[in-house]
Amino acid sequence: MAANDSTANDSKGSRLNELYALISHHADLYYNQDRPEIADSDYDALVRELKQLEEALPDLARKDFLTQRVGGRASDLFSKVKHTVPMLSLDNVFDTEELKSFFNRIKNVASTANPASTANPASTASTNEDASGFMCELKIDGLAVSLIYEDGVFVKGATRGNGHIGEDVTANLLMIDSLPKRLKNAPHGRIEVRGEVLMKTDRFLNINRLKEQRGEALFANPRNAAAGTLRQKEQAIVKERGLDIFLYYLVDAPKFGIYTQQEALNYLSALGLPIQPVNSFCPTLSDVNRFIDDWSEKRHSLDYVTDGVVIKLNNITLWPEIGATSHAPRWAVAYKYPPEEKETRLLDIEISIGRTGILTPVAVFEPVQLAGTQVQRASLHNEDEIRTKDIRIGDLIRVRKAAEIIPEVIGVNKAVRTGQEQSFSMPSRCPVCGSAVIRLDDEAAHRCVNRLSCPAQVKESLKYFASRNGMDIKGLGDSLAGKLVDSGKVRTLTDIYKLELRDWLALDKVQEKTARNIMKQIEVSKQRPFENVLTALGIPDVGKSVAALLVEHFNSIDAIMAASEDDIASIEGVGSVIARSVCQFFTANQELISRLKELGFNLRVASPVMSGSYGSSEPSDGAVADVNPFFANKTFVFTGTLSSMTRDEASSKAKGRGAKVSKG
Ligand code: IVH
Repeated sequence: MAANDSTANDSKGSRLNELYALISHHADLYYNQDRPEIADSDYDALVRELKQLEEALPDLARKDFLTQRVGGRASDLFSKVKHTVPMLSLDNVFDTEELKSFFNRIKNVASTANPASTANPASTASTNEDASGFMCELKIDGLAVSLIYEDGVFVKGATRGNGHIGEDVTANLLMIDSLPKRLKNAPHGRIEVRGEVLMKTDRFLNINRLKEQRGEALFANPRNAAAGTLRQKEQAIVKERGLDIFLYYLVDAPKFGIYTQQEALNYLSALGLPIQPVNSFCPTLSDVNRFIDDWSEKRHSLDYVTDGVVIKLNNITLWPEIGATSHAPRWAVAYKYPPEEKETRLLDIEISIGRTGILTPVAVFEPVQLAGTQVQRASLHNEDEIRTKDIRIGDLIRVRKAAEIIPEVIGVNKAVRTGQEQSFSMPSRCPVCGSAVIRLDDEAAHRCVNRLSCPAQVKESLKYFASRNGMDIKGLGDSLAGKLVDSGKVRTLTDIYKLELRDWLALDKVQEKTARNIMKQIEVSKQRPFENVLTALGIPDVGKSVAALLVEHFNSIDAIMAASEDDIASIEGVGSVIARSVCQFFTANQELISRLKELGFNLRVASPVMSGSYGSSEPSDGAVADVNPFFANKTFVFTGTLSSMTRDEASSKAKGRGAKVSKG
């Protein structure tokens, strides 16, 4: 071998090793930790580069590397489930040429199919080279699961894990409203179906908005949110997040008299299982290409993220013959849409301040059309990100939407710099309140130190407090919250309950009618149930359903504040993450709670009026019954039929007196 050949191979070899390390690192973040650091398309590009190098240097290729297997591993948090039929992944193709090679490989097998295996209509048709055709289905970016129904009843569900052993996530799957717990017209015995758990775009954006307002780390994308949620140990959180599911695969289809993928989708649908509605039978390669083109833009109008098209040989009876590699079937392939990137001019970097005082630099650029919408702003996350990418105001930047949703700046076109571009540094004072900005040693974020009265932070808290699941004060949104805080009349949440008509009329463009209306809304909001008050506080990880569980278990804010982390974590569906968050919140916010008490908020569960049989502490206004020593700290179970009231009434009366009620 010539000297420069071996040098070239040395450098290829070292790149190969580098790629093994890089891909292992990113695959672990993606599959096992649900927190990817690079875009899926960048990961795909690394894998493609690896495959090319492996072909060039077959002796150095690692036969057991994860690209030869299915990505994840089953974690220790859940019990393990062995898949009776391996759960495979799919090979990707990125252009029409690669798609054509896939098509040709399949066509050869389909046309030479053994006529002996044609004991059904579909495979008889397959002797004609086009007759098999393909099913095209939009590829959902979620998390693969397998569901088992016995005699029509959902009994078990598992993640893919390493393809052979997955995690038993039945309890969490039961929290998905769109997953039927019982099938329609189900066959007797066992039926296994597979599909994708996903989070729809609206929910994802909403959850990230709430997370931001509550000062929690955001999800990188909907897939991540779905995967993180499905591996939650706390069912209340799963319920609250609102996952969805689409099924696309019937295991052992011929056993049910199903011989094509098209029939399989119809059959799943007839069983009452949700299927991803964008799918089409495509007889030829040009039909497949047309489907891909048709949906390349249209898919952005769907309410879930799709990152490609799955193309499957329609004739299921040929699948075993065509076979699979260790990680993917040969009868199907995933076409991945190219990520859309645009160049545009960075006009400015603005600072936005969240509810917890974090300063986020935001890129403001000339508007561009990306993944179906016009985009002109993208978070730059923190100062380190700006430094690493060397982003300067005036630069020509490249932008895209990560996971088709979140605008991001990928990098800078440095070749066209004029020297007029301006570097950016984080302000040393909060641009809203002028207080000092600090950066803690172990954090990437800068924070405004004025936690309690920085107007930007109060505005965010107020919007969250007034939102629908909280105090539900209609009309108190972005604009009014901003005006109130800017007027200086509202410095803390409870100040809104002290405002008088003239305070409202002093605000820009607020008429008397609006003012009176909103004052009434604010007054009425004091009557919101305890559950809403607890939600409105914005405790990290405590949304509506977690608040409901806390209320059901503890009955009063005093009981919650007196509870230990262990007490809270012992509630079914709640765990240590929520428990810690609740305890930390109440330790830090005693003063706020005292003010809510003074204002007469509902800080315990309401219970119906009793007929005066338990002493003088009975409230006569139908509000809250006082704790009765007989009931306090005892647990009651109501069974059978009670003579003077329903079981629900009895349990709410007992709870109102400080008892715990168990469902038995
Ligand atoms: S078929 C053995 N159909 O994409 C057959 N997969 O990147 C495997 N996916 O592992 C799957 N939509 O998690 C199939 N309509 C669809 C799909 C789909 C999304 C996921 C699935 C798969 C991954 C491969």
